Amino acid sequence: MAYDRFGRRLHYLRISLTDRCNLRCVYCMPEDMTFMPSATAMQDDEILRLVRLFAQLGVDKIRLTGGEPTVRAGVVELVRAIHETPGIREITMTTNGILLSRMARPLAEAGLKRVNVSLDTLHAGKFRRLTRWGDLEDVLDGIQAAEEAGLQPVKLNAVVVRGYNETDVVDLARLTLNHPWQVRFIEMMPFAGATDFQQLMLVTADMMRARIEEAFGPLEPVDGGRLDGEARLFRLPGAQGQIGFIASVSQPFCAACTRLRLTADGHLRLCLLREDEADLLTPLREGASDEELRRLIVKAVWRKPWGHGLAQGEAPQDRTMSQIGG
Ligand code: 5AD
Ligand code: SF4
Repeated sequence: MAYDRFGRRLHYLRISLTDRCNLRCVYCMPEDMTFMPSATAMQDDEILRLVRLFAQLGVDKIRLTGGEPTVRAGVVELVRAIHETPGIREITMTTNGILLSRMARPLAEAGLKRVNVSLDTLHAGKFRRLTRWGDLEDVLDGIQAAEEAGLQPVKLNAVVVRGYNETDVVDLARLTLNHPWQVRFIEMMPFAGATDFQQLMLVTADMMRARIEEAFGPLEPVDGGRLDGEARLFRLPGAQGQIGFIASVSQPFCAACTRLRLTADGHLRLCLLREDEADLLTPLREGASDEELRRLIVKAVWRKPWGHGLAQGEAPQDRTMSQIGG
């Protein structure tokens, strides 16, 4: 079992399948983003070997992220192979939804359980401004396809950015009245490159909640307002779905963290917002045995930082979100 020195059991691994993306969201990457050379990125067999080792150490839950995981060639077969790995109980994906209308069914058939789809606004013009390249219709079609393929419950992720979509939280929250979806509002986090913008344009969860309550009245806490993973959950009176707030910046949930991250180039990232990593791909390529790799993983996990240092003004400067895999 993989424990850190604070007694947290790390059983949830997020894998960035690629740092590439078919969109360019303003809070994530610059329009002229440079991607890593493909030789630097993990190949399928390398991912599968690491997944097997992590599973042997107690990881039972995998989330595939990016960049955009659906743009990786062979992603359906990769999902199938991960799903078949002994010990893996659940495999999910975070996606921008652009390609889901044709990929939802094959992914579900390969064993994918659920998807989180990024959707920051229901306004086509604003969607284009936020994503620089995206068509809102593609995402809406993708969400429908995901539901029809049984990738449920669908969760929608909205990063809220001042001056872009802070008023859109009301329309997004309204979706939960008639859909069994979980709409999660996310505070924008600062990463390399766009840190100033990200800090300046931050909208806190309290501000989002106030705006929603102004429109609909008081939100009802779900489960007494306890954390569900990283989200605090609420419901609009009479709604089918739920509303979540992910307040990574203003109310960190580091104490309850169960997650590890594998970057697209095979580094074990110990905290999303800290630069400390253990390179697993280089030793793997140099011929390390399973036992050696497991020992590297256990040693790295042990030193997982207690939490992030945003409150002390420490933001990671080494990588963007798309390289780490949110
Ligand atoms: N802060 C918070 N979330 C972010 N994402 C990308 N960049 C940031 C950021 N700076 C989220 C996207 C998507 C996932 C891939 O990561 O909204 O849900
Ligand atoms: Fe692509 Fe997601 Fe980053 Fe947007 S947030 S550019 S969809 S990886």
